Amino acid sequence: MPQCLISGAAFEPFLSFGEMPVANAFSDPARPEDPFRFELEVGFCPESKMVQLTRLVDETRMFHDHYAFYSSTSAGMARHFEAFAASVRAGLGGEDPFVVEIGSNDGILLRHFADAGLRHLGVEPSANVAEAARARGVNTISRFFDEDAARAIAAEHGPADAVLGANVMCHIPYLHSVLEGVKRLLKPGGVLVFEDPYVGDIVRKTSFDQIYDEHVFYFSLASVSHLAAMHGLAVVDVARQDVHGGSMRYTLAREGERPVAPSVPALAAEEEAAGLHRPETYARFAREVQRVREELPALLRRLRAEGKRVTGYGATSKSTTVTNFCGITPDLVEYITDTTPGKQGMLSPGARIPVVSPRAFAEDPPEYALLFAWNHAAEILAKEKTFREEGGRFITYVPRVEIL
Ligand code: SAH
Ligand code: TYD
Repeated sequence: MPQCLISGAAFEPFLSFGEMPVANAFSDPARPEDPFRFELEVGFCPESKMVQLTRLVDETRMFHDHYAFYSSTSAGMARHFEAFAASVRAGLGGEDPFVVEIGSNDGILLRHFADAGLRHLGVEPSANVAEAARARGVNTISRFFDEDAARAIAAEHGPADAVLGANVMCHIPYLHSVLEGVKRLLKPGGVLVFEDPYVGDIVRKTSFDQIYDEHVFYFSLASVSHLAAMHGLAVVDVARQDVHGGSMRYTLAREGERPVAPSVPALAAEEEAAGLHRPETYARFAREVQRVREELPALLRRLRAEGKRVTGYGATSKSTTVTNFCGITPDLVEYITDTTPGKQGMLSPGARIPVVSPRAFAEDPPEYALLFAWNHAAEILAKEKTFREEGGRFITYVPRVEIL
């Protein structure tokens, strides 16, 4: 049985997806694909309450000098991070504050600190996206954050008022080292503020496509509180975020250094009621996932049989799980359109569906577009008015398989 990365206790997996490629390993059609595969499987540890992968992919296979994911590809996310920066800045007191961000990618969040002339440092191991951040004036070091990195940063820059992270804590298996590092790096009264996809939303929406190699953990308040307590830290505030299909922002401080906001016990009660601390909840989730796995390819095959063309929208990491788990190959989804230049002209991991530019989509639109970037639905539906007015339809599979 696998062992919990947080508590060390043995636990049962509740859902297996079979062999998967690295979610962001787009391949050049002129070259053979990297044959690397790993068993994608998730489980729930009743002791730590943490939902997690049972097998890990080495981090250097996922985060390197040609990492495909650039944060700044959505206008909605740009606005989200501007507001995140404003809320952090509002809480900064004292002279010459210093803010550190873990997984700062292309600087979508820290640019607001750089532009305001505030002391900041991004810690970003993927060298290509780190370089994009530097190009827009964001101080960035290229390395993986852990306790050693925290020590080095504290020695060079002094202690931090806030350590931030978005969609990165859930990527890091060695969270014990990360939290020890953060504790060392923070000033007295300093805070760790991070947000990640919320397991409560994943369960509620059956959004199983959040499960892939990079996402080692699927957090709840219960699991984050358990982890925090192991390091003398406490969750002092939580706030839902309407991004990535439903995220939660957690604010942590050293135990006793900050008052606990009413949002914390309120969410703890909601999680009890939703059964996020019970294995049966995840067994039910796994059954719902199997249903989508049958219904989605069945719909695509039916449309194909009717002579309709279907393409994909958004070559997301999530789409790697969906295509490979549901057996969606280029005969069912002709191509995937994506705004990221580095993904265009490449083949999607495993399923090998060609990725094309938005222009190609506009010039050769299908009858149906399968919305792999369903978390950006509002932005995309507004942008693709013409496609829809001319009779094009979007297909979603979250929270259920449906033609929009
Ligand atoms: N914060 C951005 C990027 C999220 S993608 C956003 O929300 O859009 C996750 C990022 O974390 C990647 O850029 C990856 O290179 C980085 N990362 C992965 N492991 C890390 C670690 N141990 N320390 C710091 N960054 C890490
Ligand atoms: P995201 O949903 O953050 O994906 P992931 O599952 O990897 O976390 O990324 C959105 C992807 O969709 C990204 O590759 C850019 C693409 N995209 C478009 O092609 N068009 C759009 O209008 C938007 C908002 C995103």
